[in-house]
Amino acid sequence: MKQKLIAVIDSGSGGLSIWQAIVALLPHESIVYVGDHAHLPYSEKTTAYIRRRILLIVHFLAKLQVKLVVIACNTATVAGIDYYRQHTQNLPIIGVVPVVKTAAEVSKKRSFAVIATNYTAASRYQHDLIKKYAGGCNVINLGCSNLVRAVESGHVKGARVRRHVEKVLAPLKNSDIDYLVLGCTHYPFLAPVIRDVVGSGVQLLDSGGAVARHVRRVLEQSRTLAKTGRPKYLFLTTGKAEKVSRVAQVLLDRKIHVTKANI
Ligand code: DGL
Repeated sequence: MKQKLIAVIDSGSGGLSIWQAIVALLPHESIVYVGDHAHLPYSEKTTAYIRRRILLIVHFLAKLQVKLVVIACNTATVAGIDYYRQHTQNLPIIGVVPVVKTAAEVSKKRSFAVIATNYTAASRYQHDLIKKYAGGCNVINLGCSNLVRAVESGHVKGARVRRHVEKVLAPLKNSDIDYLVLGCTHYPFLAPVIRDVVGSGVQLLDSGGAVARHVRRVLEQSRTLAKTGRPKYLFLTTGKAEKVSRVAQVLLDRKIHVTKANI
């Protein structure tokens, strides 16, 4: 392949929300997506385990024609973005973290919530992010790992999912927030249900747009931005390819063929 690929990695299918944002902004870029479904959820693993998995995947991708890696997973990013960079040569790596800074800038009430996996919510990284950028705000930092399963099963709408989301977001019920940060890449696929549950007074913020713009900036700087041509999209999973294909099709609302990768 003459054109080099962007690689997008997640523990599962959540990173497809980042894939979607990159495709929307950079329609000529070819992308290889890797979902580590066989080792999902990362949130329940140790830091050492998550780091080992991500590094294995990054090194696997480095052998393909990859020009940039996006860790499209907040959990994996907070677990060791610097570690991945230190152990990889000549390959830019971009991570995804909850957009706490943006929320602090736009919240008129100076009061917002961040939902993320339990790992991210409890991490030093997240606490530092809140302290650094949202010191003057009331921030509800809520771990909601069990929303990940709903997305992984492809159930992102309907009455049952709504009841589940309602239960998970119950701690936000009487809070006076005006923004809700989606701090896990799986959650944008539940955005319509979440919006319905929190009501119109609360705006949702996710990381997709910011990550895609960051990717564009890095590619522009290295003069490797693809400006013409038809892109190729490759989807890999360490899990069950058939099931992952089915779910990806539901999430992205397009035909997706996922191939099994032994990583
Ligand atoms: N998609 C991942 C994130 O953004 C979390 C899923 C998991 O726990 O594996 O944090």
